[in-house]
Amino acid sequence: MIRLFMLFMAIGRISLIPLPVQQIYGSSDSTNWVWTPSPKQKPRINGPLVYGCRPGKPFLYRIPCQGEKPVRFTVKNLPNGLKLDPVKGIISGIAPEAGEYLLLITAENSKGKDRRKLKIIAGDKLALTPPMGWNHWYAHYDRITDTLVREAAENMISSGMADVGYCYINIDDGWANAPKNKDTMRMGLLRDDNGNILPNYYFPDMKNLTDYIHFLGLKAGIYSSPGPLTCGGFTGSYQHEELDARQFAAWGFDFLKYDWCSYGGIAGKDTSLEAFRKPYRLMGNILKLLDRDIVFNLCQYGMANVWEWGAEVGGHCWRTSGDLGFELDRVFDVAINNAIYRLYSKPGEWNDPDYIQIGWIGNAYKMGMPEQSHMPPAMQYAYMSLWCLMAAPLIYSGDMSKLDPFTLNVLCNPEVIEVDQDILGECGRVILGTENTFVMIKHLYDGSFAVGLFNRGTKDEIVGVTWQELGISGKYVVRDLWHQKNLGLYKGTFSTKVSPQGVVLVKISKRRIKNDR
Ligand code: GLA
Repeated sequence: MIRLFMLFMAIGRISLIPLPVQQIYGSSDSTNWVWTPSPKQKPRINGPLVYGCRPGKPFLYRIPCQGEKPVRFTVKNLPNGLKLDPVKGIISGIAPEAGEYLLLITAENSKGKDRRKLKIIAGDKLALTPPMGWNHWYAHYDRITDTLVREAAENMISSGMADVGYCYINIDDGWANAPKNKDTMRMGLLRDDNGNILPNYYFPDMKNLTDYIHFLGLKAGIYSSPGPLTCGGFTGSYQHEELDARQFAAWGFDFLKYDWCSYGGIAGKDTSLEAFRKPYRLMGNILKLLDRDIVFNLCQYGMANVWEWGAEVGGHCWRTSGDLGFELDRVFDVAINNAIYRLYSKPGEWNDPDYIQIGWIGNAYKMGMPEQSHMPPAMQYAYMSLWCLMAAPLIYSGDMSKLDPFTLNVLCNPEVIEVDQDILGECGRVILGTENTFVMIKHLYDGSFAVGLFNRGTKDEIVGVTWQELGISGKYVVRDLWHQKNLGLYKGTFSTKVSPQGVVLVKISKRRIKNDR
């Protein structure tokens, strides 16, 4: 009976508990759609608080830091084998022996300094926080070239994205040769006489490309399929798994997206669980033996409950559904569905609801040229907030050469990103409200909560969360994370006006957050 009552309260509570009007915060003011305050001139070190690597493998970490350049970096307790470039803020070398190393990073410029701890955990786990970066697919489809990838890397630095933690530059489908393609320059020998996979004409020197990406302090990702051909009809890794994995490592890649595609033809009528796991287990085992840390991204659209076994076969993240490019008008549903698998989200093991597609993106149905997103600004904030609340990989998949101030403000709010990168790795829990509203609640490692108040409807709604739902009592500080503004002390409940298709994202904690970072 109590359970039934609580369920009723959870689903219908907004109409049951009238929200105290004097406490309604009207922050989702839509007159100015740029919500993220400009970064301060003094340094602000961003990025995760933990970083996983495997002992003895190449190590690379660019310290994400905002503030006026030049910034000078120092790091205390750097383990043997690692060195710091104090001007670029890049730590590189060979990962230390197994153990935990607590680094104290300082960044200083003419306006001031900032300090932050970073724990390096050398062991067998990678991606201790969700991977952040860029993937070419929804901007360039099968038009990708070495030049576009280099430009994306440069733009990741110059736009400031790298300064809030984006670091992977990931090539998707289209870099290899295809037996048939409308662009004959993407046709050619699939493999050399020794079976080595060959890049197409537009990728003249893969090692040189990853060297350049690494020189910038960023990491490089590549794409293949366990089937004979990729989804775009390019060479896949079927029966060449080990050779390809070794080649990817030798080229210097740090991330592999492994896309089911034509593997369906190999699995045939075998629909056993093991048939789904087999190609991923095979590649996962190979990757573990390589002399390079490679984050393994399973892409098979959520078949056979991949979240239940993705980690066991060596995956660090796995898509939970089909291509989001076809469902951009259903972002709320995709997110709510992804959050069902929330208990599978943990450090090194992430549910992946697909990329952040805002800014300039190409229509997925036509594999079109990039054009400005039609998504309403409010929904873009909701989209980014949901991904952060769900600890989803934050992989931007728009045109990096057309990053406008609005898109950057959605992508680059360090307080919002901190929710994604929180070291507990929890995926938020959904509490349904009225027909048009819902709340997503996420525990953060410091005992506070990130709470997203969402409105899927077409007119303003009041959305709130009660302390009972959070399991707390007493006074708590509420901070609006998008505006980076403390709203005051609240007791018992917090409610706010949320604009249509939008969000108000708050942090609810015992402690005031200083505004001067
Ligand atoms: C599939 C994947 C996409 C993209 C394309 C490339 O559709 O789900 O993310 O990689 O293949 O062909």
